[in-house]
This record gives sequence, structure tokens and C-alpha cells, in this order.
Amino acid sequence: MTDNNGPPGANRWPEGSLRATDVSRSFEGVHALQGVTLEIDRREVVGLIGPNGAGKTTLINVITGFDLPTSGKIVLDGEDVTRWRALRRARGGLARTFQHGHLFRSLTVRENIELAALGVGMGPREARQICGELLDALDLRARADVIAGTLAHGEEQKVGVARALASRPRYVLLDEPAAGLSEADIESFSALVRRVRDDFGAGLLLVDHNMAVIMDVCDRIHVLDQGRTLASGAPTEIRQNIDVAAAYLGSSGVEAEARDA
Ligand SMILES: Nc1ncnc2c1ncn2[C@@H]1O[C@H](COP(=O)(O)OP(=O)(O)OP(=O)(O)O)[C@@H](O)[C@H]1O
Ligand SMILES: [Mg+2]
Repeated sequence: MTDNNGPPGANRWPEGSLRATDVSRSFEGVHALQGVTLEIDRREVVGLIGPNGAGKTTLINVITGFDLPTSGKIVLDGEDVTRWRALRRARGGLARTFQHGHLFRSLTVRENIELAALGVGMGPREARQICGELLDALDLRARADVIAGTLAHGEEQKVGVARALASRPRYVLLDEPAAGLSEADIESFSALVRRVRDDFGAGLLLVDHNMAVIMDVCDRIHVLDQGRTLASGAPTEIRQNIDVAAAYLGSSGVEAEARDA
């Protein structure tokens, strides 16, 4: 599949990996991250789980440049980007979504996607083109002129992903994209995550509390607790490990969610 006949951005980048090495971040005495090392390869989905306050969003912030680590290193396809600003990292292929939605609610779906492309430095023509490709690829064409603030929650999440993909990213970091979705929306969202991996060739980091989604779509899973890595491995290994993890995390953690999965 090539850029000409595949989905936008497909196979655009050579293989590589995104690596956070020994990353720590403290906020006035709160150790949000302590020596976390995590790697995401192109064409794989890495799940990032852990209880509230475990440091998941902080790790996404530090990897994408919305925050800087107190210590540690972020390497994007061999390049040390630890001190790069967020916009430079976005232009270099790192895209993210936000836990609490970040659409321009008074603008249309189309305008939201185009603005994301313009925001990383594309010209108007290229922004229009990638937007058109994404509207088709994500089945949003019929919703292009709808005001984002009126979208159903599932569609809103999908437009958030479309905005992330508008920068033609190598890696996409998704912060709780399935939160609040209906069963049906969760199913189509999982399919979308697989497509971003398989057709767009991106590496994904998926933060979610829904263990069914995590177990279903992730190639590897990384468990954080109180800023530290608790476990890391294939879904089957993590599932086997889950009783140990649950004992440690208690009811706020993966225990109940794992049982529901
Ligand atoms: N800007 C900040 N200032 C002070 N403390 C912060 C800041 N950002 C995060 N923290 C603290 O760092 C810890 C990790 O927070 P973080 O938001 O990364 O957790 P999380 O795993 O994303 O949780 P959730 O599942 O609730 O989204 C928490 O104790 C939080 O209060
Ligand atoms: Mg969070």
C-alpha cells in the first residue's frame, strides 16, 4: 500500500520506535513518574494502564512535549527530542489526544481536522487534502459540516483521533479515548485503533481503564502504579499477572476491571 492509494500517511515513515528511558517527573513533592522506561514500535499498540493518579497522562505529556521530565530521555526514531517543544515534536511525528476532549466546539468537524493540519505547518491545500482523506477513511464525510459541539460522544472521540492523524503522525498517543463510549461505539473504536496501526502504520499508546478494550487491541501492556512500572508484557502475561497486580493496586486498580474484561 502506498500514499497514493492507501489511507493518509500509510507507510510514509521508515520503521522505528519511540522510547522513554528512565523518565521521572515530580510536582512539588509528588512523584508522578519515577524511572519509567517504555518503548512503542511502529505498527504496534501498547496499552498503558494503572489506577487514577498512576502517572499515565503525565507520561503522555512528557513524551509529547506538553511537559518536561525532571530526568530521563525521550528518543523519537533515534533522535533525542527530550528538550523539544510540543509543536516541534508534533511536526516530527508525535500526535496525541486529550483525556477531556480538545475539539473547537463552535467549529465544524472539517474545520477541526483542517486546523490540526494547519497547526503543524501544512499549507491550506495540503490541509484540505488530508482532511478529505480522513473524512473518507474514518467514515466522517456525512458529518463534515456538523458543528463539533453537537456531536455524539463517540463521534467526538473519532474526530479527536482524526485531528491527531491530520499531522500524518508516526506515533499516536490516546488518553482514555474509550471513556464514556457505548458498547457499539467501543467496538468501532477498537476497529479504528487497529486500522491506525495496520493501515496507517503508526505506533500507538492507548491509555484506558476499560480492560476489555485493552486486552482486545493491545500487542503489549505496560502497568503503572504511583509513577512506577508495575509490570510490562504481552496481554496474556499481564492477565496472568493481574492477581498480583490487583493485590497491590486494590479495588481502585485493575482488579475489578480485569474481572469484567
Ligand atoms: N500539573 C500538575 N501539578 C501537580 N501535580 C500534578 C500535575 N499533573 C499531575 N499531577 C499529579 O501527578 C500524579 C499523576 O497524575 P496523572 O494525571 O498523570 O495520573 P493518571 O494516571 O493520568 O490518572 P487518571 O487515570 O485519573 O487520568 C497525580 O498525583 C497528580 O495529582
Ligand atoms: Mg489521566
